[in-house]
Amino acid sequence: MNILAIESSCDETAAAVVVDGRIVRSNVVASQSELHASTGGVVPEVAARAHLRMLVPVIRQALNNAECTWSDLDAIAGTSGPGLPGALLIGFNAARGLAFARDLPFIPVDHIEGHVRANWLGDEEPPLPALALVVSGGHTELILIDENGFFERLGGTRDDAAGEAFDKVARLLDLGYPGGPVVSQLAAESTDRSFRLPRAWLTGTDDFSFSGLKTAVLHTVQDDGAPPPAEIAWAFEDSVADVLSKKAVRVAEREGVTSLLVAGGVAANSRIRELIIERSSVPVFIPPPELCTDNAAMIGAAAGVHLDQAVRPEVAIDIDPTPYRSKVRPLE
Ligand code: KG4
Ligand code: ZN
Repeated sequence: MNILAIESSCDETAAAVVVDGRIVRSNVVASQSELHASTGGVVPEVAARAHLRMLVPVIRQALNNAECTWSDLDAIAGTSGPGLPGALLIGFNAARGLAFARDLPFIPVDHIEGHVRANWLGDEEPPLPALALVVSGGHTELILIDENGFFERLGGTRDDAAGEAFDKVARLLDLGYPGGPVVSQLAAESTDRSFRLPRAWLTGTDDFSFSGLKTAVLHTVQDDGAPPPAEIAWAFEDSVADVLSKKAVRVAEREGVTSLLVAGGVAANSRIRELIIERSSVPVFIPPPELCTDNAAMIGAAAGVHLDQAVRPEVAIDIDPTPYRSKVRPLE
């Protein structure tokens, strides 16, 4: 089962060919980060128009890299949301249009399920039940996946997403966009690691909050006696990693899961990876960095277990850009 998957929910234009939801034959990503660097964040219309320019070459490259012709394809998948509406529409409608032209089934895929499903693209299949921590530029979600593959959202951020906090702190420290990798790089250069920033535990809930931490960074930067930027970056990264890892591990223990899955762009962060692996008592699954940030292979992975949701491309169908909700339905 060869699935061509297309992703355009935010600022990466991506296409991939994935076999049976498990094997990546090609995975092409055109990042718009340079385009958004001058504004320090994604401008939705700029993102949508860049998708329009990049999509056809990206799809062609994905087919070429997979050594696939149109007639080798069995289905086409597209991200339906969450995401920026204008950006989503470009990839979703291209995927649906191609399915229509080729008379193939069309599979709409939830972007968050895609991030989680990137953990099925490795050699080893994660055992269920599992707890998934999805941390990206737009999301911080804790999702319980039961033994039948039902997704249930347990909690998430009440304000900024973890990646959004990295991006905003990068702006405060004048480091550019996207913030995660540059903040992390600067943090690694710190020599004195005694400066600490607050942690919002939100005890008694499975929720997170990062806006207070961001404000604490702002006040620190404005202070005359502020520590050097590398020490601020370290203290910020350590606070995010401490809260994410401790809460995820605690919830995993409470729910009695057999594996802990981490996904999303922020899962590329080495401090976060390190602390989660160190603290977890169950096996931890984290995709390689290129499958953590937005890509279409993960959409192909989710599509592979959602063949039952395939629709004929001519049916009336819409994107769903709204934030992630529990999707109570089986994965396979
Ligand atoms: O999953 P993703 O590519 O897009 C969304 O769905 O949002 O995540 C992008 C986010 C950005 O906020 C970026 O700053 C963050 O992931 N990120 C990182 C790292 N690499 C990317 N955050 C922390 N450390 C990193 N190494
Ligand atoms: Zn994402």
